[in-house]
Amino acid sequence: SSSGGSASADLHGQLPDPVRSSGVLRVGTDLKYAPIGFKTAEGKPDGLDVDLANALGQALGVRVQFAETPFERLFLGLQAHEFDVVMSGMTDNLQRRDGTDAKGMKMNSGVDFVDYFVTGTSIVVAKGNPQKVGTLDDLCGRTVALQRGTVQAVLAERQAAVCDKAHKKLTVQQTDTDDQALALVAQGKAAADLSDTPAAAYAAQQGRGGAQFQVAGEQMQAGPYGIVLSKEDTALRDVLVKALDRVIRSGEYDKILAKWGLS
Ligand code: ARG
Repeated sequence: SSSGGSASADLHGQLPDPVRSSGVLRVGTDLKYAPIGFKTAEGKPDGLDVDLANALGQALGVRVQFAETPFERLFLGLQAHEFDVVMSGMTDNLQRRDGTDAKGMKMNSGVDFVDYFVTGTSIVVAKGNPQKVGTLDDLCGRTVALQRGTVQAVLAERQAAVCDKAHKKLTVQQTDTDDQALALVAQGKAAADLSDTPAAAYAAQQGRGGAQFQVAGEQMQAGPYGIVLSKEDTALRDVLVKALDRVIRSGEYDKILAKWGLS
């Protein structure tokens, strides 16, 4: 690699092929989730995951290439070796590590994670909270919108079972992107969107055509975001752990969090 500064040379040497020989770390990501990962008006990748991936690339002495992929397809793309890792605000949990679905059914061989941030789920409602939603139970008898393939989809299905018992059906509307779920809220077709707290806070701020939204109630289900890797890629995992440690110790990690209002 051209960056070959002595700082990164040792970590570079620990990279497995083909990352080391190609000098490229391919990162699968859904770039429709500001401020975690998104594209600028000029189409440039930006956000927490993008900045952190680039910082890791620097520490490793490799170039980072982002492979924009729908969130729901990220695990498949990883399995198909379309990219080396996934960074997409992906929550690290046991189901994903084991490759099981919400009911414990084996779906795939599972993945490994290198954790880098902790956050949870928030409820996003239309400005003024017209339907007075403050908790998941308040959604019974209503429609909730959320992005397919997320932990929020699992949470909503679990809540739908709770609402069933109360004989107040919860309709769960799944969308390809979180923006589409937010659009349903803006149109009054859904009472709320469930998303990660940073994305919810972002929606409630500027960024989305004036404050159309607000966050309701408390954050739920705090858990880590992890860099996702294939379980077999233990060498890559080990060197990523070291690179992340270096990015944290250099103070760069804190700078990136502060830049995105996440510290
Ligand atoms: N953290 C949640 C999950 O892992 C949502 C992530 C959505 N990320 C995205 N890039 N759209 O399921």
